Amino acid sequence: MNIAVIGGAGYIGSHAVKLLVERGHKVLAIDTLDNGHRRAVDPRATFVIRDCGNTAALAAVLRDFKIEAIMHFAASAYVGESVTDPRKYYRNNVSNTISMLDAMNLTGIKKLVFSSTCATYGEPEKVPITEDLFQNPISPYGQSKLMVERILMDCARAEGLAFAAPRYFNVAGAALDGSIGEDHRPETHLIPIVLQVALGQRTHVDIFGTDYPTPDGTCIRDYIHVWDLVEAHLLLLERLKAGHGLFYNLGVGKGYSVRDIIKACEKVTGKSLPTRESARRPGDPPALYASPEKILREIGWSAKITDLEQIVGSAWNWFKAHPHGY
Ligand SMILES: NC(=O)c1ccc[n+]([C@@H]2O[C@H](COP(=O)([O-])OP(=O)(O)OC[C@H]3O[C@@H](n4cnc5c(N)ncnc54)[C@H](O)[C@@H]3O)[C@@H](O)[C@H]2O)c1
Repeated sequence: MNIAVIGGAGYIGSHAVKLLVERGHKVLAIDTLDNGHRRAVDPRATFVIRDCGNTAALAAVLRDFKIEAIMHFAASAYVGESVTDPRKYYRNNVSNTISMLDAMNLTGIKKLVFSSTCATYGEPEKVPITEDLFQNPISPYGQSKLMVERILMDCARAEGLAFAAPRYFNVAGAALDGSIGEDHRPETHLIPIVLQVALGQRTHVDIFGTDYPTPDGTCIRDYIHVWDLVEAHLLLLERLKAGHGLFYNLGVGKGYSVRDIIKACEKVTGKSLPTRESARRPGDPPALYASPEKILREIGWSAKITDLEQIVGSAWNWFKAHPHGY
C-alpha cells in the first residue's frame, strides 16, 4: 500500500516508517520536525515537511503520492505542558487532526490508524484496564485524545471512515538493529531518564512517590516495546472496516514499578544508579496496566518482546551509540 505516516520523524512514527518499508509498503513520512528528527526517518521512505493542520498543503502531497491509508502519530504529547498550555494541546491534537480529516476527505482516503492513549482512562476504577472502562481523562492531553476518538467515531458513522484508535500504554525501547531510538527533548519518559543517569548526563533518578499502595511503594506502569506496538498498527490497518472504529489497548498486560525499572537498568548497564525520593506528582495513579485480552482475541496480536531487560537493553544499545540523540 501507499501509506502516509504523519509524525513520521518522531519516536514511534519513525519506527512505524521503518517497519512499513521493511514489509514492502511505499511510505511517505510527514512531520513538522518541531519534535522529530530528519535522521530518524528511514532513507527508503520519502520525507516531506508539512503541518497536518494545513489541509490544502497536506491534501496536495497525499494526492501526489496516491496515498491509500494514514497512520497519524503527530501530536503534542507532554501531559504536564498540556496542563499549563491547554490551548496548544487542543489546537494541535484536536483542531489539526480535524484539518487532517478534511485533507483525507478531499483526497478520498478512508483508512486511518490514530495514536490514542491510556491517558484517556484517567484514574481507572480497576486494573488491569479493559477497553470498556469509563474514560475520564484528568489532563488536557488525555482529553484531547478522547475528543479525537469521539470525532473519529462520528466521522465513521457519517462518512464511512474506517479507523483504529489503539490506546498505548508506556512505549519503550528502540529498534532491535540499533538504527533508531528515542530522542524526546525534553525527555520525560522513565527508561530514557534512567539511562541518561547511566550515561552520566543526569546526577540521579527522581522517584516521585514512595508511599503508593503498591508492593514497593512506587508507581506501576505497563511498558510496551515500540516494535511490538508498530506491528500491531500494521495488523489493525489490515482489519479496518468502513464505518467502524477499532479500539484496543496496546500494552503487555504486566506492570513494573519505578524501582523495577531502575533495577532492570542497573542490571543492563552494569552501573549503580543514584535515586532521590520526592513527593508524589498530582494526577499520577498508583498502577496503570492494560488488559491486552481484547486485541489478542479479536486480532490475534500480543506483545512478543515482554522481557523487561530486553526492552531496556534495546534502549541502552541505542543510547550508548547515540549519547546525544540524533
Ligand atoms: N511515547 C509514548 O509512550 C506514548 C504513549 C501514549 C500515546 N502516545 C502517542 O503516540 C504518538 C507519538 O508519540 P511519540 O512519543 O512518538 O511523540 P514524538 O513527539 O516523538 O512524535 C510526534 C511527532 O509529530 C510531529 N508533529 C507534531 N505536531 C505535528 C503537526 N501538526 N503536523 C505534523 N507533524 C507534527 C512532531 O514533530 C514529532 O516528530 C503521539 O500521538 C502520542 O500522543 C505516545
